[in-house]
Amino acid sequence: MAAKKQVEGIVMLHNLYTRLENVLPMPEPGQRAELDLGCGDGEYALALAERRPDVYVIAADMLLGRVRKVQKRVLRDHLTNLHVLKSESRVLISRTIPDAFLDRVNLLCPDPWPKAKHRCHRLITSDIMMQFARILKPDGVFHFSTDNAEYLEIADRTVAESGLFVPSDLSLIADVADIKTGFELLWESEGKTVTHRAWRKL
Ligand SMILES: C[S@@+](CC[C@H](N)C(=O)[O-])C[C@H]1O[C@@H](n2cnc3c(N)ncnc32)[C@H](O)[C@@H]1O
Repeated sequence: MAAKKQVEGIVMLHNLYTRLENVLPMPEPGQRAELDLGCGDGEYALALAERRPDVYVIAADMLLGRVRKVQKRVLRDHLTNLHVLKSESRVLISRTIPDAFLDRVNLLCPDPWPKAKHRCHRLITSDIMMQFARILKPDGVFHFSTDNAEYLEIADRTVAESGLFVPSDLSLIADVADIKTGFELLWESEGKTVTHRAWRKL
């Protein structure tokens, strides 16, 4: 438990070797579980946790200010099924989350890092696809959205090349199609189109 530090109930992941079961209560056997990766102000995770109290939801972001905001809503609305982590995404998915843990990973409007010198910061890589496949249950879903055409192309190509997922129609995310994240609303207010994709783990 040494790695667990609570800030108003937020779990802070500082240690590369922390296992999720040591810092969070685990879902019940068979309980549906979802991750909102890079959750920002947590609109997706909060809306999901509120409408589906039977779903175990994790909201994770590396910025303390953002996860604090989410945790305040968790406390205000008594959302016992939403767990808030301050964590770097690559560490969380490659080390902390157990195998076959999640039904859906949501990566919504991640930073596209359009400048060539920043491309190394992009989350979508072949390595990440292997980790998504590892942490998803069989038939688990990878849900992605972006307003950036180049990042969409990169995501399509990277997922296809991984050979670990099959493209799906949006029926796999129909239950959350009405949830708009803060960044989705922002891009739409600027006249941009946010495209959603869903892939099913093979
Ligand atoms: C553009 S915002 C999108 C937030 C939210 N998903 C939405 O759609 O409104 C990207 C978020 O990812 C977080 N983020 C970026 N890189 C990250 C990383 N490597 N680990 C954890 N969080 C990260 C940022 O702090 C930011 O909150």
